[in-house]
Amino acid sequence: TKRKLWGGRFTGATDPLMHQYNQSLSYDQRMYAADVKGSIAHSRGLEKAGILTQQEREEIERGLRQVEQEWKDGKFKIFPDDEDIHTANERRLSEIIGKDIGGKLHTGRSRNDQVATDMRIWLMDEVENIKGYLKDLILVMANRAEKEVDAIMPGYTHVQRAQPVRWSHLLLSHAHAFYADLTRLSQLIPRISTLPLGCAALAGNPYSIDREFLQQELGFTSLGENSMHIVPDRDFVIEFLQWSSLMMIHMSKMAEDFIIYSTAEFGFIQLSDAYSTGSSIMPQKKNPDSLELLRGKSGRVFGQMAGFMMSVKGTPSTYNKDLQEDKEPLFDCVDTVANSIRIAEGVIATLSINPEKMLAALTDDMLATDLADYLVRKGVPFRETHHISGRAVALAEKNKCNLSDISFEQYRELSDKFEPDVIESVFNFENSVEKRDAVGGPSRKGIERQVGYLKAGVEKL
Ligand code: ARG
Repeated sequence: TKRKLWGGRFTGATDPLMHQYNQSLSYDQRMYAADVKGSIAHSRGLEKAGILTQQEREEIERGLRQVEQEWKDGKFKIFPDDEDIHTANERRLSEIIGKDIGGKLHTGRSRNDQVATDMRIWLMDEVENIKGYLKDLILVMANRAEKEVDAIMPGYTHVQRAQPVRWSHLLLSHAHAFYADLTRLSQLIPRISTLPLGCAALAGNPYSIDREFLQQELGFTSLGENSMHIVPDRDFVIEFLQWSSLMMIHMSKMAEDFIIYSTAEFGFIQLSDAYSTGSSIMPQKKNPDSLELLRGKSGRVFGQMAGFMMSVKGTPSTYNKDLQEDKEPLFDCVDTVANSIRIAEGVIATLSINPEKMLAALTDDMLATDLADYLVRKGVPFRETHHISGRAVALAEKNKCNLSDISFEQYRELSDKFEPDVIESVFNFENSVEKRDAVGGPSRKGIERQVGYLKAGVEKL
């Protein structure tokens, strides 16, 4: 305990299991670079406040850069008494440059504002990475949609065949969800980028450390305005976990679509070998494990979100050790979403589609709405045309034939507004999707517009 940074008032040793239970170094060491960055900014603030001489500050900076290098090279030696990344780095700094100067670094700072600052620095970097992965995913989807615009497939509601759509339209429907996620993630950044440093444990620093200067040094968007609010504030962690949960809902829903479409029964798409696995007993099997994991891991992310929200909901004001429980969910979530997005990108970039199977799954009854629309254009009220088209469906069912097999004379019996062009003009899937050319629809024009919208959006976010 003598060796612990806070050991002064202690005489007894920490119980070994308590040490293990209390430590966070085993997982927070991944923030080593953020911790060094925060400490360098703090040392500059101390110099500006007249607590450190320029020489001392330079010495601290040199030492901290060496600490960072040791972590980078895998040479940092962890001591059994090191508790977290903050105490470990400070302990090592003093070994390198000596306690006389090293011991001045923590002036006017607490691990409370330090850890909150480090987490924000660390998360901002990760968010930039995740944004990059999301952009790549969206672009892969947009490029595919552009290239495969000819393929028409059944669109489903309730997993029942509904109306024909372009495959590209379905694919882009998922891309738009990820684009909304990208937008939302960008909107989180200003709130992650609010600086706690200089607020110390809870009550602010008494050395007039210039916090606006610290903000500038670290490139944060804004300053926390109330030390008791900003030091223990973990809303940015919760918001990220919530963001991840929503993004993973989209991931999971897309995975479910593609799992269904890759079955032999549908056969619309086939995953590449790179993202499939085999069975240990059934030689013929090719399983969509990548998609199943995207679906499965969403549950894990929701769990991290709910778990951490429960950890903090009853904590009183200011820092409490409960807050250390923010790290494992956040880290796990960052890793899971980053990998999930990259896997989704790979799956989508390498799958192949089977337009013949898509076409074969289209049936005339999916144009029953178009049949009703035909009569609308002849001036019949839609409610009536819906009924007439329904009777045509019933007739086809009774005769065990397709809607397009019903003769013109029979159509004429259903309504005298039918003209000889009815069969040719209605029962054409290409026509059906092309008619839906209003913004948001599956026509070629619609696909082109969406692709342009997504590409331009990704560019500016
Ligand atoms: N490892 C701690 C955490 O992650 C750092 C802050 C510790 N502060 C304290 N007063 N014990 O939350």
